[in-house]
Parts: sequence; structure tokens; C-alpha cells
Amino acid sequence: MIAREAKDQVAKGSQIRKMFEEGKRLAAIYGAENVYDFSLGNPDQEPPAAVLEALKTEASSSVKGLHAYMANAGYAEARESVARYESTRSGAPVEARGVVMTVGAAGSLSIILRSLLNPGEEVILIKPFFTEYTQYVRLAGGVSVQVDCLEDFQPDFDALAAAITAQTKAIIINSPNNPSGAIYSADTLIRLQELLAAQDHTIYVISDEPYREIVYGDAVVPPVLRYLPNAIVAYSWSKSYALPGERIGYACCQSACADYEDLIQALVFYNRTLGFVNAPAIWQRVVTQNLDLPVDVSVYKRRRDRLLGILRDCGIECQTPAGAFYLFPKVPAGLSAAEFAARCAEQHILLVPATGFGMPDHVRLSYAVADSVIEGSEKAFHAVMEGLQ
Ligand SMILES: Cc1ncc(COP(=O)(O)O)c(C=O)c1O
Repeated sequence: MIAREAKDQVAKGSQIRKMFEEGKRLAAIYGAENVYDFSLGNPDQEPPAAVLEALKTEASSSVKGLHAYMANAGYAEARESVARYESTRSGAPVEARGVVMTVGAAGSLSIILRSLLNPGEEVILIKPFFTEYTQYVRLAGGVSVQVDCLEDFQPDFDALAAAITAQTKAIIINSPNNPSGAIYSADTLIRLQELLAAQDHTIYVISDEPYREIVYGDAVVPPVLRYLPNAIVAYSWSKSYALPGERIGYACCQSACADYEDLIQALVFYNRTLGFVNAPAIWQRVVTQNLDLPVDVSVYKRRRDRLLGILRDCGIECQTPAGAFYLFPKVPAGLSAAEFAARCAEQHILLVPATGFGMPDHVRLSYAVADSVIEGSEKAFHAVMEGLQ
């Protein structure tokens, strides 16, 4: 028999994955063109041409040893490139030693949490948060503490201060945020640093940044390392370069970070022993040749605006996200998120109830989908809302 915990956790499942499976089931019955699946944050853009070119070159290289084991932290050249990039971007002292190449942001978050947490120590999650954080914290032996945000999805500093205890080890921030799209300003980061500096023990900030480049209009994502000395960045090329299946990212911190030497050694140790061993070799070489390619967000912006227009036209309340590629509307009054999602599914619209994101009165829609999905959904959304009259 498998472990009881495994059985319990599997039974709880992932709402996002459940919806994704339901989308496939409906598509098989009604045809893919009649299903409007907004469940998964899976970029539908292709990776940048320069990245694909570099991949071809690397794949055909005759240099020996390119497929061998390497240092668990990754190639020295890759770490140097990232360190240069991060220190230029933030002005903070980031050394190659302070960079560990990882299996995406998920890999980074897992090794960071495992490196920081003693059993029972607390990690603050600001609502709404990426659902998987609770699992990563639990698997690292920690306890998640969920804190409310303000109406505009910005941190509520009173709530944050009240949530800090002697057991608080870290806060996870995610800007641009999945699911709300909110971006934290430099002033917000400064305020966060003031709050943390006033505590009598070190509290790390884990900055999960896979959507860093996906921002709209004049929105700016300030470099967290400039403002928060004890920040550990979890970065990934999954979203910016549309490479989620390739699993490539990094964890990094600046040399002024608390317990720097021990932290780096622990990150490298857990990269190995959690079974990642090292980040994919070829992708380390490919992405670090191309660290500052412009990310074209025009397609996402067009889709954001169109889907937002459709929702608002039929009376669904939704704020305009400044970044990432999700809409996070409020559930119409009188319904739970699960009931609203079920009404939507009757019209072949798949979206995710935000219970797992810590806000059960909201749902999440990913607009990393074809324009035709958005266009096709218009009538279906109207039908859902008319059915509620
Ligand atoms: C906020 C957030 N963090 C981390 C991840 C994991 O990303 P990766 O593919 O880099 O592991 C995701 C993926 O959707 C995400 O939305």
C-alpha cells in the first residue's frame, strides 16, 4: 500500500489539472473548437527565434563532454552569465557562486524552502498565491500562513505584520502575480524591507519571478534584490521564453544575504538530493547565451483586453492585471467559485475556482490561449450570466 499521506494528497488533487483534464474530455465529445479552456497557464507562443537557433547549434556541437554530469549548481559559464545579468539589473552584488541553475522555478522554490525550513517553521503566503506553494512548503516540513491582501491585490502591511511570529522563516512574493497580475512597486518593496528589518530575527523573502518580463503598458517590475538584501530569487524561462516543458531556471541571492555561504551550499545540496541533480545541460547553455532578448507581450495584451471586455460586458467584475497572463474575476454574488465554475463548464468554459489560490470568491482564467478560444467564449459567457438572472 502506498503512504497514507500520498493517498490523501492525490485525492485532493489539483483543481487546475482537473479542469485541464475536463477540457480534454469535453473536447473529445463536442470538438475542440467548441470548448473554451482557460484553465492552464501554458504559453501558446513559440520560443524566441534566437533561442531555437542556439538550440540547433548546441544540439549539433561536436565538442566532447556536453552531455556529461556537471557540478550540481550548473555550468560555471551559465552561473557567471546569470550573476552578471542579475547584478547589472539590480545593482546588488550577485556572484556566480550565488547562482544555482535549477529545474524551473518549481525546482528553485523546492530547494530554497528545503534549505531554509526547520520542521514547523512558518512561511507567509500573501493571497492570492500560486496554489503549489502550499505543497512545496509542506514537503519542506514547513507550515503555510495565509495572509489577506488589499482590494487591489497589493500586500496589506497590517495583516502581514500581524502574521509574523517567532516561527516565521520566510515570505513568498510573486510579482507579477499568478493569479491576480498585480505588480509590487519599489515603494512596496521598501516598505516590506522596513517591516522585516524591524524584526528581531531574519526573515527571508522568496521572490518567485517567472512572469518578470510579462508586463503591460508602462508597468515596471522593480528588481527585488535591490531592495531586499535577504531575498532569494526563483526565476524561470518557462513563461518569458515559452519553454515550460524544458524545465530551466535558477535560484540566486546576493552576497550580502544572511548566512550566504551556508545557504548556497544547502541549495546545491538539495538540487542534488531532491533528485534534480542538475538543471538540463543543453538548456543551461542555450538560455544563458540569450539573457536579454525582448519578450513580445503584444499578443497577450490583445487577448487580455479582449477577454476583459467580454467579461465586463456580461457583468463579471474584474480588475485589469498589470502583468502575467491571467484574469482574476470575482464570482457573481450568491454563487461559490465551484458553483460558478460548474455553470461555466455547462457552457463548455473551463476556468479554475480560486479556492486553492486562497481566495474562494474568485476564479482564474488564463489568456495564454488562441484568439479563437476567446472569441468563441463570448456567447458562452453571456449564456452563463443570463442563466443566473
Ligand atoms: C507563480 C508561479 N511560480 C512557479 C511556477 C512554476 O514554474 P516553472 O515551470 O518554472 O517550474 C509557475 C507555473 O505556472 C507559476 O505560475
